[in-house]
Amino acid sequence: MESILSYNSKYVENPLREFDRRSLYLKEHGKEIIKLSIGDPAIYFPTADYIIKAYSAALKEHKTYYSRSEGVKELINAIIKRYKHYYGIGLHEEDVIVTSGVSEALLFINSGLINKGDSALFFKPYYSQFIPNALMFGAVPVYGEYDEKNNWGIDTDKLEVMLKKLPILRKKKLKYMMLANPSNPTGTVLKESTLRKLVDIANEYSMLLISDEIYDEIVYNGAKFTSMSRIAKGVPHIVLSGLSKNFSATGLRIGFMIMPEDDPVSQQVKKKMRDYAYLRLSINTPAQYAAAEAIGNQNEHDKFIKGYVSKIQSRVNFAYKLLSQSKYLETVKPNGAFYIFPKYNAGKLIFKNDAEFAHKLLETQGVQITRGSGFGKQGHFRIVSLAPESVLEKAITKIDILLDRYKKKTDNKD
Ligand SMILES: Cc1ncc(COP(=O)(O)O)c(C=O)c1O
Repeated sequence: MESILSYNSKYVENPLREFDRRSLYLKEHGKEIIKLSIGDPAIYFPTADYIIKAYSAALKEHKTYYSRSEGVKELINAIIKRYKHYYGIGLHEEDVIVTSGVSEALLFINSGLINKGDSALFFKPYYSQFIPNALMFGAVPVYGEYDEKNNWGIDTDKLEVMLKKLPILRKKKLKYMMLANPSNPTGTVLKESTLRKLVDIANEYSMLLISDEIYDEIVYNGAKFTSMSRIAKGVPHIVLSGLSKNFSATGLRIGFMIMPEDDPVSQQVKKKMRDYAYLRLSINTPAQYAAAEAIGNQNEHDKFIKGYVSKIQSRVNFAYKLLSQSKYLETVKPNGAFYIFPKYNAGKLIFKNDAEFAHKLLETQGVQITRGSGFGKQGHFRIVSLAPESVLEKAITKIDILLDRYKKKTDNKD
């Protein structure tokens, strides 16, 4: 039968969700499931009361109409204040578009920038949503690498060599460079010196620089975060962020993009992003008022963020310690976000690939993780390190049991 679906719809997938139906089925049939597959802090860290109150107040005041498409003024002003406060950036109202999560911003960006056959630069392992979003608009991704042997940093010399080797036509078609900093899935915070080189490279190849900084306040273990908005002066760029992670409010679905520059490219992009916002009329209005209070009430946020990040740090470090004791795993210590991305020793194990590993882990041990290939890195897996230590310990023990069960016969002695 001829398909009714569009050709590009075949790229629409989300590896974070691929076992959700199965794990729910198993749970409903009495199996204990430990779900470490989705980065949803609000399950373990309730959204702060002052935000909930603001949401309720907006509902009580019947703010249930369409809002301005680009976002309510109160929220836009709070976002402007935030970037001034944290990064010393002066933004204008026209530089900010509020979206239904960063997820919607990614759709706007790709739909607005990508013609069939255009390219965009990503770094492996990438955040899993980046690629389907680009592919479905006909992009041909070009990949740089995070270097696992170098704490998942980016070797910009290698990147330059790779880019120089690209055919001229491909170089010309590079539309944007996409980064997640801090990174999902590795938890890496990039050094300022690396970011500065990436800014130069984006500039040299006329790529719009896009920095997804949704975890910019979740930084620990002594790392120092630098926002692209602070250093990409004079180079067209978009910074993405939102409420999901820094405010532990994933379900409010509030994201935003800021475009601080005012060159002709930035002006075009800003105008087009606004058109996309108009096209979908509005996002959730009461949630925007809650977000205005969430971001604008710095005192309350300061009270929340300290304890929140310190708990995340303990949980990540705890899980890291256990994982790094496994003889089958190699693990880099994260210093941002709340993910850990170990590599399993494929030479010692009999898994066909990481999809089989993830599948077996769910079916036999009841632990749901995400396969590394969903982030562009075979032979790895990602765990979300938000659950309390006792849960993480149980899950990691089960991971080790599975690894031991699937070791190659020659390793039986040890
Ligand atoms: C790097 C990154 N960007 C965007 C998102 C999605 O954000 P939102 O909830 O704002 O759509 C996530 C969620 O895990 C993420 O890790």
